[in-house]
Amino acid sequence: MVPQPSDPGVREPGPGIGVGTWAWGNQFLWGYDPRQDATLAACFQRAVQLGLSFFDTADSYGTGRLQGRSEQLLGEFAASLAPAQRLNLTLATKLAPFPWRLGRDGFRRAFAASQLRLRGKLDLVQLHWSTRRYAPWQEGPLLDGLGDLVQQGAVAAVGVSNMGPQRLRQVHGRLAQRGIPLRSLQIQLSLLCPGAVSSWGEDRGGVAAVCRELGIELIAYSPLALGLLGRPPGPLPPLPAGPRRLLWRRLWPGVQPLLEAMARIGSWHGATGDGVALNWCRAHGALPIVGLRTPAQAEQAAAALSWQLSPEERQTLDQLAFAAAAAGTRMPANPFESA
Ligand SMILES: NC(=O)c1ccc[n+]([C@@H]2O[C@H](COP(=O)([O-])OP(=O)(O)OC[C@H]3O[C@@H](n4cnc5c(N)ncnc54)[C@H](OP(=O)(O)O)[C@@H]3O)[C@@H](O)[C@H]2O)c1
Repeated sequence: MVPQPSDPGVREPGPGIGVGTWAWGNQFLWGYDPRQDATLAACFQRAVQLGLSFFDTADSYGTGRLQGRSEQLLGEFAASLAPAQRLNLTLATKLAPFPWRLGRDGFRRAFAASQLRLRGKLDLVQLHWSTRRYAPWQEGPLLDGLGDLVQQGAVAAVGVSNMGPQRLRQVHGRLAQRGIPLRSLQIQLSLLCPGAVSSWGEDRGGVAAVCRELGIELIAYSPLALGLLGRPPGPLPPLPAGPRRLLWRRLWPGVQPLLEAMARIGSWHGATGDGVALNWCRAHGALPIVGLRTPAQAEQAAAALSWQLSPEERQTLDQLAFAAAAAGTRMPANPFESA
């Protein structure tokens, strides 16, 4: 049977799926070790092979002697591709508004360093977080400097991260006065952090609605809640090392109804819960950037591109996510996120 447009199974293709690279250089949370580099390279190759083309990094991923490691690895891996394949990628970085980066030129050196580590392939530059809460004077000039980079043709597009509806409107307006589009907003969004797509909690109105209204792409970070939403329901799984251990232990009992529904819905699509978590973001119009470290994870992420949630399935998951959040089963908010 040819599906008709009224069929709930027929939907506009949602956004794709992107790749996050925070773990490629981060020891504290992700236990990075340079001996993992060959696996990370294989993960990158597999992701590209399977059609994942958006990669997110940051100049603060990797600290100390590993400073800029994620950008460096991404730049190296992308450089190993055939020119046409490399051209097809979108590499996005985030510049951190550290206290010593001040004024309109405050990002100039950081941008040049990122560009070098990424070997000249840098398509989107994002302000990593808002300084509105603790140094409101710092943000405007830095954003103006990012706008300059676009106007000078040094980078194609500018985005921001960790901003709520109010701040997003202001930033959009500031850039629009110069005729510079704000391409994207990157925020924490998952079934364990659904505030951005609902009228639930502090984020009333949902920043996703503002993105739709202003034509800003919404990018969902930590779509698997640091991997927790990729585990099947049941007894507590082996806990990861490091700070994630405490978080998983705390959230595990409360997340069971959600994980059970995800497993059930996933099984109707021949998929598992991780795919449901990613497609829930897509069903809300967001591009999930999932942190990947192995070729197998790249395959699992890419598999979610082949199907979509129905509106009813999305609604069921929304209800469970908002109920869990209201009961305190949710990810901690990013302290640098502004209203
Ligand atoms: N703008 C910001 O402030 C900000 C903040 C955080 C993150 N980000 C960006 O968002 C990206 C993604 O977020 P994230 O890395 O924090 O968390 P995430 O995507 O929610 O979780 C990533 C972790 O989930 C596990 N995983 C991956 N695929 C899986 C699968 N198919 N099934 C089960 N588990 C799977 C892996 O951990 P194991 O290998 O341990 O299983 C992986 O490291 C980051 O890499 C970064 O680029 C941005």
